[in-house]
Amino acid sequence: RGGVDLAGKRVVVTAGGTREPLDPVRFLGNRSSGRQGVAIASAAQARGADVVLIAAHLEVDPPEGVELIEVQTALELQEAVEEAARSADVVVMTAAVADYRPAETREAKIKKSDHGDTLTLELVANPDILAGLSAHKRDDQVVVGFAAETEPDPQALIELGRTKLAAKGSDFLVLNQVGWSQGFATESNEVVVLRKGGDIVMEASGSKLSVADRILDVIA
Ligand code: C5P
Repeated sequence: RGGVDLAGKRVVVTAGGTREPLDPVRFLGNRSSGRQGVAIASAAQARGADVVLIAAHLEVDPPEGVELIEVQTALELQEAVEEAARSADVVVMTAAVADYRPAETREAKIKKSDHGDTLTLELVANPDILAGLSAHKRDDQVVVGFAAETEPDPQALIELGRTKLAAKGSDFLVLNQVGWSQGFATESNEVVVLRKGGDIVMEASGSKLSVADRILDVIA
């Protein structure tokens, strides 16, 4: 462990799952609990960093003493993280960001009586926030992405990660396998970290806090 090896560094972490409203009472969301992102925020803080936590929907409490910015949608998260990134040394995009949002958000509740047996929702793509941050980052900034994939074959999972890392352009990609009972909303995690170019630089499994510290070792 590095003690206070992140002292004086400004670390921006996004965490949790975005929620894209359909109408005043419904949303499209995902099963991210925010645990891994919150663990990274608290581990970075323990190592001396000034931490900004940009929180989409969390099922755990955010750490005390971090600057907390709460958001709902991908577009809100984008605005907050792009602003915070300007003064950041490190940006860690742990949040599960919706790839699509409803083309329109209804002012009134969608009613079954208006639709009958089927209801078709039109979705539009959200911007890829991580790709945008990576394209505009300063040379002295470190940008880290996450990829949660359901691919069961370990080698195919790594290949998916390499392709995703190249598409996103981030410095690192933290890859983990998710499923109905794994990765999201669980207490522990198993990750492989790839660096730009595709080499494996770290593999870790254990509590989300211990995994967070291993990821920060790589970043530091
Ligand atoms: O493409 P995918 O959703 O698998 O990529 C995951 C990574 O990209 C995560 O770091 C996530 O925070 C980020 N992401 C993003 N903008 C999106 C979708 C994902 O920044 N619209």
